Amino acid sequence: MNKTLDIPLTQRARARLAPGPKGNPILGVMAEFSRDTFAFIERCRDYGDVVSMRFLYLTAYFLYHPDDIEYVIATNAKNFIKSRNQRSPLFRRLVGNGLLTSEGEVWKRQRRLSQPAFHRHRINAYAETMADYAERTISTWRGGEIRDIHRDMMRLTLEIVVKTLFNADVSADADKVGRVLSRIVTPFAGQATIKWIMDNRLPTMTHRRFNRDAREIDAIVYRIINERRRSGQDEGDLLSMLLKAHDEDGGHMNDQQLRDEVMTIFLAGHETTALTLSWAWYLLAQNSGVEKKFHAELDEVLGGRLPAMADLSRLQYTEMIARESMRLYPPAYALGREAVEECEIGGFRVPAGAQVFMFQWATQRDARFFARPEEFRPERWTEEFSNSLPKYAYFPFGGGPRTCIGNYFAMMEIVLVLATIGQRFRFSLLPDHPVSLMPAMSLRPKDGIKVTVENRRATSKTRAPRKL
Ligand code: HEM
Repeated sequence: MNKTLDIPLTQRARARLAPGPKGNPILGVMAEFSRDTFAFIERCRDYGDVVSMRFLYLTAYFLYHPDDIEYVIATNAKNFIKSRNQRSPLFRRLVGNGLLTSEGEVWKRQRRLSQPAFHRHRINAYAETMADYAERTISTWRGGEIRDIHRDMMRLTLEIVVKTLFNADVSADADKVGRVLSRIVTPFAGQATIKWIMDNRLPTMTHRRFNRDAREIDAIVYRIINERRRSGQDEGDLLSMLLKAHDEDGGHMNDQQLRDEVMTIFLAGHETTALTLSWAWYLLAQNSGVEKKFHAELDEVLGGRLPAMADLSRLQYTEMIARESMRLYPPAYALGREAVEECEIGGFRVPAGAQVFMFQWATQRDARFFARPEEFRPERWTEEFSNSLPKYAYFPFGGGPRTCIGNYFAMMEIVLVLATIGQRFRFSLLPDHPVSLMPAMSLRPKDGIKVTVENRRATSKTRAPRKL
């Protein structure tokens, strides 16, 4: 008898094999998946809520129903570890054994130690920084100019994460970190999540550059950690919190662990937030009714002044815009796990070692849970609707024990940045620059999002810009 299984053997024996596409005798569904990832995910849904397939030598399952997603990431989370793609040596080289990648006791300890750094009262103190940095970003923008709003949002969220993490302004360090970071994730870009399960071997040249970049960023991170250890000052930033954190037995994180967590937060915390902002601007530019209501809320609540922490509870429509943007364009568009022991999901047998994927992209556009799912309708997010929704029909931040530790940070940043920029400018999409999706590690716009900037009001008033 297998002790970790939660269903009796007789019932297990009856559990059926899930249906699914057969694919090629050698590659399985690899080619179809890589050719057009989202079309493939959509097509698979026709087989049912649990679909099985083979990627080369790996058995994989796609889950579409919120109850099955809940089973894997929350109620039976103990039987699952992160999927293979997240254990690839390259990814490990980048984020080490930080929160995203670690498992078991190591993960538990790191999560416990990191949690205080993400407490609301601590994060609330960053509100001013977020709004100020957004204000500074747009201070040189002019009506009529053409910009890549995705690139702008990437830079802004990097500045914010560097400031809140290291209390460092965009000094030479932060700029360098930004440059190296964007270069370093390129081996993962352009390849769908599951594809790099198998081929994480890179051509030697790319490999060498990747390692050089990784060493460069390590040196910067270690130097900052050392300086802070020497000065012993609490700078009120995430790094100070991580340095202070200790176990019941007084144990602190060592330099290697600190480095891994800092890199993890860099990676997990800046691109996802930038993408939500980019897709929100993209959607607003195409939905004038929503945009009008957005502007009306900003004018009423803020009347031209920079938003502050205290305004958040009144920027409700702006928050709904953020939620609805993440429904349609979830930055983390898939979650992946590996079954440790054989189990049963939705009545189907899932063997040990199977890779299990759940797609925010698909479930959050499922007509069973969202009326007119393709429409951008922030007003759907009433309290009543949120409460009636199955828990895992909407899961942009994941869920269960491995839920995003930065979700409050992210939501606050998104609302404050939308409000700051939305007061001053609106954007129209360039007609000759179609926006297409790139399912890399996160859901990116393939060639950016090119917009024309249009003035809404001349300058924001009532508060002189602070020195950053
Ligand atoms: C819109 C923005 C964001 C989205 C959509 C997002 C999404 C996610 C998702 C889906 C997971 C769970 C992954 C899984 O279960 O396999 C996750 C985990 C994580 N996120 Fe976020 N995230 C965002 C912002 C942030 C920010 C701002 C930070 C930090 C400042 C952050 C730090 C982390 C960390 C450390 C984990 C790993 C947690 C653990 O396993 O204990 N994220 N995020």
